[in-house]
Amino acid sequence: MENIVPVVDAAIKKSGLSLKDIDGIAFTQAPGLIGALLVGGQFAKSLALSLNKPLIAVHHMQAHVLANLLQEPAPAFPFLCLTVSGGHTQIVLCSSPTSMKVIGETIDDAAGEAFDKTAKLLGLPYPGGPLIDKYAQLGEAIYKFPEPKIDNLNFSFSGLKTSILYFLNNAGTANVYKEELIVDTKVRKQFIDENLNNICASVQERIISILINKLKKAVLQTGITNVCVAGGVSANSDLRKALTETGIALGWKTFIPAFEYCTDNAAMIAISGYYQYLANDFSPINIAPTASSSF
Ligand SMILES: Nc1ncnc2c1ncn2[C@@H]1O[C@H](COP(=O)(O)OP(=O)(O)OP(=O)(O)O)[C@@H](O)[C@H]1O
Ligand SMILES: [Mg+2]
Repeated sequence: MENIVPVVDAAIKKSGLSLKDIDGIAFTQAPGLIGALLVGGQFAKSLALSLNKPLIAVHHMQAHVLANLLQEPAPAFPFLCLTVSGGHTQIVLCSSPTSMKVIGETIDDAAGEAFDKTAKLLGLPYPGGPLIDKYAQLGEAIYKFPEPKIDNLNFSFSGLKTSILYFLNNAGTANVYKEELIVDTKVRKQFIDENLNNICASVQERIISILINKLKKAVLQTGITNVCVAGGVSANSDLRKALTETGIALGWKTFIPAFEYCTDNAAMIAISGYYQYLANDFSPINIAPTASSSF
């Protein structure tokens, strides 16, 4: 609440526009932390009412997908987007800026959670994704963690998390992924300290292979070869490399947004608002924010 007015003021100043130049007020309606959504939503409504401009409710996950349209060259429609963030892992089929369908998603943890929870098991601070990425560059993927067996386009990361837990609790004894044979905490810590880079490289390799294999499957099923990525995990250096290399090998056109458009950003809400404005997709003033919402 304290920050919203100065942030909007600063954005208006930096843009070189004035409020009267603005045609509509877009805001994130869902999903997200309800406190933040309430503050943004309430402010957007007040602004729309006072300026007599249309109000445009944007879906946060659709906006992550449309972040790919912020840069040139932009993907042609239809395209597939792998959205990998802190709370979501989805494959989205995007037919137009206002028409999207989730064709695969996680049935438990998100990819970002898999990184963050692994980091926690390794004693690393939150958010663990960037740190695992950093240590992975110094190690080799010598440990082979199991890949979940799911036939459709959905993902699962909770089994991987459990196998990492057992593996660490057994100090990597002969690649043990079972619960028995737990070593004492000193041995466990020593094992992690001595093998951190290789453990990170191995976990990272598995998370990425899960993501890339599903994406390959989605391309085969849909015949769509324009492939984009979105969300904070797309900052991962090996994921970016794997996407580029897979794209070259299989003849896809891949699009990887600049880092500032991968994580949460206001530009992705603005471009979503722009396309909804063109489609006359406006919202009533009594629209309420929602913490969780699929599309
Ligand atoms: N280099 C990296 N490698 C792996 N993961 C990373 C990297 N950089 C960031 N992440 C992960 O990205 C996630 C945060 O992404 P993001 O900010 O897009 O999520 P969010 O907006 O909180 O989630 P959602 O959009 O689903 O509500 C964290 O889980 C973080 O660990
Ligand atoms: Mg987000």
